[in-house]
Amino acid sequence: MISIRRARPSDATAIGAVHVAAWRSAYAGLLPDEYLAGLSVVRHASVYGRGIADRSEGHAIFVAVASGADAPPGREAGMVVGFSSGGRARRPSMAEGEVETLYLLDDYRDRGVGRRLMRAMAAHLAAVGCRSAMLWVLAANPTRWFYQHLGGRLMAHEVIHFAGMALPQTAFGWDPIDSLLAATAPAREG
Ligand SMILES: CC(C)(COP(=O)(O)OP(=O)(O)OC[C@H]1O[C@@H](n2cnc3c(N)ncnc32)[C@H](O)[C@@H]1OP(=O)(O)O)[C@@H](O)C(=O)NCCC(=O)NCCS
Repeated sequence: MISIRRARPSDATAIGAVHVAAWRSAYAGLLPDEYLAGLSVVRHASVYGRGIADRSEGHAIFVAVASGADAPPGREAGMVVGFSSGGRARRPSMAEGEVETLYLLDDYRDRGVGRRLMRAMAAHLAAVGCRSAMLWVLAANPTRWFYQHLGGRLMAHEVIHFAGMALPQTAFGWDPIDSLLAATAPAREG
């Protein structure tokens, strides 16, 4: 079984581990090898630990937890395999809500978990009063097609400077946010 729930303080290390594993996989070839090799679970666990405790600006983190037959051997009691974070948009001129992160372990991709995490974030953002939502994705990241598949409309392009590189990124938006809720509705889960 894979369930989605709000993150707890005790999830911080597992979320940090998913972050590091997903970045090393998704950004191989996009970010410098030495940057990816230097990512630290401990450092990211600390960042996410603060994020879990931060409920300002509608901020929330949701985790996907695999248990039983869906968990790796020895982890049947439950293991965090993905997460998403977001809150009120950092640039309110673009949308009211923002999905800031969405990452899964490779073995748990293509099973509807990404859609379910997006659903949880969209429902949360709507519940805290956001009538629209957006996110940024690196232009070279094939995940952009996932967001387009969920009805995201191209909103903006820009270049950010990160890890010593100039990286084009693209914003996708859902306005009204109900369009994201509809695209991630449970009836569509396989
Ligand atoms: C992006 C990600 C979260 C998607 O989650 P997922 O669980 O693999 O996707 P789902 O199984 O929920 O897919 C939902 C739908 O989107 C489609 N889809 C998934 N990934 C896609 C892609 N890269 N391009 C186009 N469609 C995609 C699926 O085919 C499915 O379609 P359906 O309507 O026929 O059911 C996951 O692949 C991931 O963690 N990627 C690496 C990390 C990353 O780049 N994160 C984004 C940072 S901005």
